[in-house]
Amino acid sequence: MRLLVNIDHIATLRNARGEGNPDPVEGARVCEEAGATGIVFHLRGDRRHIRDEDVYRLKDSIKGILDFEMAATDEMIGICLDVKPDLCTLVPEGREELTTEGGLNMKHVYDDYEQRVFPAFKNTGIDISLFLDPNPVDIELAQKLGADAVELHTGTFANAPDEAARNKELERLRKGAELIHEAGMIVNAGHGLNLENLPLLIEHVPYLQDVSIGHALISTSLFWGLERTVKEYLRLMNVDC
Ligand code: PXP
Repeated sequence: MRLLVNIDHIATLRNARGEGNPDPVEGARVCEEAGATGIVFHLRGDRRHIRDEDVYRLKDSIKGILDFEMAATDEMIGICLDVKPDLCTLVPEGREELTTEGGLNMKHVYDDYEQRVFPAFKNTGIDISLFLDPNPVDIELAQKLGADAVELHTGTFANAPDEAARNKELERLRKGAELIHEAGMIVNAGHGLNLENLPLLIEHVPYLQDVSIGHALISTSLFWGLERTVKEYLRLMNVDC
């Protein structure tokens, strides 16, 4: 199994001050050095966190897997083909949403993806992953399109209100993973994963290759790194601690 770290929220923090810190590209470097297999970023139409220049800097500095998460607009496809990441994860995108709210509705997008999106990526060497809820119909259409991978949306599992709902969603994810694997596609997963729910996912869902984790990982790192940072300021100020 491989950890791909989503660095969007380092950019969220950077953008809050309109300056260069914290630099998401430096964050990506630290994640790779710590052993992450790769880096994910979502370049949104509204550029609310990652910006175009980040994408090109990431391409120049990332040694492992680069996963370009995006909506399949002509603008994003153009940038993606220029950047040539290892993987492109296609997601639905809404202007009002705080974060991606669910998987693609394959029945809605199928014709467009077949005629416009997939042909654009043909022979580029970029693998295509589709972000899907664990619905058999969506998985079947992903296979029909020739997707390389499916990223299972784990948000419903992560945000389940109680144990019964969580177990029900885990079972859907388990069955979804089996269908994806049987269809010859790679099984990835992401959204809402954290230190508490990841072990449960790993225990129940087979064939997982990449887990894509952002918000919880970046949030936890803030606290795990705060103590050292405060101590360094105090050391510089010659204050004993
Ligand atoms: N995978 C996809 C397709 C996403 O849209 C996101 C959120 O950007 C993630 C994974 C990571 O989710 P989180 O930030 O909750 O870990």
